[in-house]
Amino acid sequence: MNLLLYGAPGSGKGTQANMLRGHFGIPHIATGDMLRAEIQAGTELGRQAQPILAAGRYVSDEIMIGIVRHRLSEPDCQPGFIMDGFPRTVPQAEALDDLMGDLGKRFDRVIYLMVPVEDLLHRLSGRLVCPVCQRTYPPATEACDADGSTLVQRDDDKPEAVRPRIEIYLEKTVPVLDHYRGEGLVSEIDGRGTIDEISRQVLAAASSPSNGEVARRAGGAESKTA
Ligand code: AP5
Ligand code: MG
Repeated sequence: MNLLLYGAPGSGKGTQANMLRGHFGIPHIATGDMLRAEIQAGTELGRQAQPILAAGRYVSDEIMIGIVRHRLSEPDCQPGFIMDGFPRTVPQAEALDDLMGDLGKRFDRVIYLMVPVEDLLHRLSGRLVCPVCQRTYPPATEACDADGSTLVQRDDDKPEAVRPRIEIYLEKTVPVLDHYRGEGLVSEIDGRGTIDEISRQVLAAASSPSNGEVARRAGGAESKTA
């Protein structure tokens, strides 16, 4: 099962990916989490990425494609994975097609969490994250469920970075959806219910074949009977 979570900053990708990881037992590949881990570890990449993330801009396609190529080649991705935060530009989407082709994989579903901008602003300004495992929590949560750490605010959830993040998403990442719509892979989910309600819809979408898959199976059946 290879799943791609798509949506604006604050739409709930990380929240739902955490649920999917528990349900399907496959890794969650979150490019934002990977960059924050590099920043925390003080690597050269982390030093380069820190001001970019803090300003709400995008790290270069070249760097991001390299990171994802390396991560997908690791053995734990073999049974499947949940991709979150990549691709974010059309060149990243094209590179991911090539990479998936090289690995003999394809996405089963692209799950689009749709949330209006005013709700995104509200969610991001109140979000808390675990500095150890990076799980995200709503406002007023006291500690991380998984490891008990005291929760903190992400640098890019400060007001000066939130609007640029949404603007760059609208400019560079919205066109990525058309890339996948053409393949019949996109399930649109209204992301405004409770977390549990959204989880039920995400699981239902992840567990049913996409239009693209139905068409592929029908094509296979025709060729068998021809
Ligand atoms: P990244 O970490 O991917 O951030 P993002 O896309 O901006 O998304 P978020 O993590 O902010 O939101 P989310 O959708 O995961 O929402 P969450 O579940 O936390 O990327 C960070 C940065 O890294 C980028 O800005 C860029 O600089 C760089 N980067 C990463 N990938 C890159 C790439 N491919 N190319 C270039 N640069 C890249 O939920 C948000 C809040 O809402 C939480 O408090 C949560 O508890 C709450 N919530 C969730 N669901 C609900 C609900 N149903 N109702 C109410 N509240 C809810
Ligand atoms: Mg996230």
